[in-house]
Amino acid sequence: EANEALRKKLLSWYEREHRDLPWRATPFSGKVDVDEGAAGSPYAVWVSEIMLQQTQVATVVPYFERWMKEFPTLVSLSRAEEDRINELWAGLGYYRRARMLHQGAKLVVEKHGGTIPQDTVDLLKIPGIGPYTAGAIASIAFRKAEPLVDGNVARVFSRLLSIDEEPSNKVFWVAARRALDGNNPGDFNQALMELGSTVCTPKVPSCAQCPLRLECKSRNAALERGLDIEDYV
Ligand code: ADE
Repeated sequence: EANEALRKKLLSWYEREHRDLPWRATPFSGKVDVDEGAAGSPYAVWVSEIMLQQTQVATVVPYFERWMKEFPTLVSLSRAEEDRINELWAGLGYYRRARMLHQGAKLVVEKHGGTIPQDTVDLLKIPGIGPYTAGAIASIAFRKAEPLVDGNVARVFSRLLSIDEEPSNKVFWVAARRALDGNNPGDFNQALMELGSTVCTPKVPSCAQCPLRLECKSRNAALERGLDIEDYV
């Protein structure tokens, strides 16, 4: 089936090309039973995904490392002083994200005994966790077959399937759910985001490096019209 071939190509590209980042389990994500706060754990995934909203990976790395040193567990974060949280967040901007993360940690301690829930329905009730973050925690930390869409993922699908809609359009969630690799959803979702941020970039994508170039509708349409993809996207 076409989606199965696409999943294989994307996952083997990601296995070769992924960046080693401090919140990613090594050698590969989706390890089960990692220690709380370790790479790939629900808490580490939560913190990293909140920091990565509106902020580049390279900027986030040192902030993430300092944060995890100071608040290695969700309980330690729930007990943190607001001032200290703001100090550790200083420079990342959008301080509301930090406040919501703090409130979220308190809620998980009060309502879930300190254990982050696995179900997206429960995750969505936590302050600061919307559909994107719920999908990221469920798929990356808990290996649940849940899709996610951010700006990068929407752009990948808009080109791959030639969907001319705003990134916020629900159609991208439908596409992401259909394409999802149920056996390895965490790596699959991260591979899509990685592809969007390193290859399928907004202005001039590097189609020659893309594992999905042969099935990309936008690229194929451009080629048929004798255009370079840069002229088309
Ligand atoms: N952007 C936000 N979260 C990401 C992740 N887990 N991998 C790659 N890029 C991301």
